Amino acid sequence: MQTIIILDFGGQYKELIARMVRGLNVYAEILPGNISTEILRKKNPIGLILADGVQRVNAPDAPMCNAGLFQLGVPVMQFDPRMLHAPSGNEQMRNFLYDTCGAAGDYQLKDYIPAQVKSLRETIGGEKVLLGLSGGVDSSVCAALLAKAVPGQLVCIFVDHGLMRLNEGDEIEAAFSNRDLHFIRVDASARFFSRLLGVTDSEQKRKIIGEEFIHVFEEEAAKLGDIPFLAQGTIYPDIVESGAAYGTVIKSHHNVGGLPENLKFAKIVEPLSLLFKNEVRDLGRRLKLPAAFINRQPFPGPGLAVRITGEITAQKLDTLRRADAIFREEVGKLKKRPDQYFAILTDTLSVGIKGNIRTYDPVIALRAVTSVDFMTATTTPLPHKMLAHCAARITNEIAEVSRVVYDITAKPPGTVEWL
Ligand code: XMP
Repeated sequence: MQTIIILDFGGQYKELIARMVRGLNVYAEILPGNISTEILRKKNPIGLILADGVQRVNAPDAPMCNAGLFQLGVPVMQFDPRMLHAPSGNEQMRNFLYDTCGAAGDYQLKDYIPAQVKSLRETIGGEKVLLGLSGGVDSSVCAALLAKAVPGQLVCIFVDHGLMRLNEGDEIEAAFSNRDLHFIRVDASARFFSRLLGVTDSEQKRKIIGEEFIHVFEEEAAKLGDIPFLAQGTIYPDIVESGAAYGTVIKSHHNVGGLPENLKFAKIVEPLSLLFKNEVRDLGRRLKLPAAFINRQPFPGPGLAVRITGEITAQKLDTLRRADAIFREEVGKLKKRPDQYFAILTDTLSVGIKGNIRTYDPVIALRAVTSVDFMTATTTPLPHKMLAHCAARITNEIAEVSRVVYDITAKPPGTVEWL
């Protein structure tokens, strides 16, 4: 397959460029700007794209590139970020790829499934493979792909920590019940609850949940005996951001759901590690996963624990679940949905009046953000009428909520999650 190499000289455009190139049916990989020409030559690229931040080539602090790049005999483009937004940007890129580099357009996602099925069968043979399934897009698509490649050999462990949204655990179970895999749902809510008793600090909550998750996963895996392969839903941005693509790990990556690092598996398989999120979603559609899974918004591993301020109780979880479900139902009616949207249960009590009775109950906050990578985000300007309707429904349908507010803080300074 022909390859375009994007050389990373800093800045936030590299992944957008790679997605643009792949969208034009040419395979693109991201490598650090200082990669040696020997490694580059081995990759045999048909063209190079130099991606930097906002510096101009002649700026005093512009990144230096290795002169050897220009001796490779392949076209080199210095990328202008305006191409990402200009109406003609795609056409300019197409010209570079097809006219200048001689691309054949041989990267098609439809080929990915048969290629991976073949390679997974060769790697796994007749052995069993274990996967921690969180219900998120990546682990779900990974499960569907493995069930197709090695039917009957995949064991999925879904650790239900009791901090999922309304009906979510059942939906995950239902989505995988008709696939050729062994699905294990572990109801560990009592364990998580007892360890979270009285804990109010959010970092403490995260730590406890992460630790407990690993304990439960290890205990369940041990019951299954020797399983030589562990599958992970790692995707390409995880690899690029961790620096693993070129051997030096800059930031350690934790798969959502916190898969145990010290599990003694002989081999790891990561069948999505070359794909971007949009490609993983496309694959999910081709593997006929329900739309709800493919379009699932990001959901933090510690679940609703980081959306309840103060101590977590069964009552609070129930209140938050119902409010969140109402908000999600209403947002679901919009033509264009925010990238992430949810409810938070605050520990602020406010006075209300319900049927002539003075109440003093908690405040629910609603948050909806628009974001590409969740490193930065803007609040989504949801229609006021729709927000007022949500507030009316939440306060009417949930007796113990006195008031609803809408969070209008961008990230930065406000993180997406409150805790
Ligand atoms: P923040 O709150 O840091 O969130 O702006 C950015 C994105 O990350 C998600 N998030 C988490 N995901 N474990 C996760 O797996 C976590 O502890 C966690 N905290 C935040 C958040 O939902 C958003 O999409």
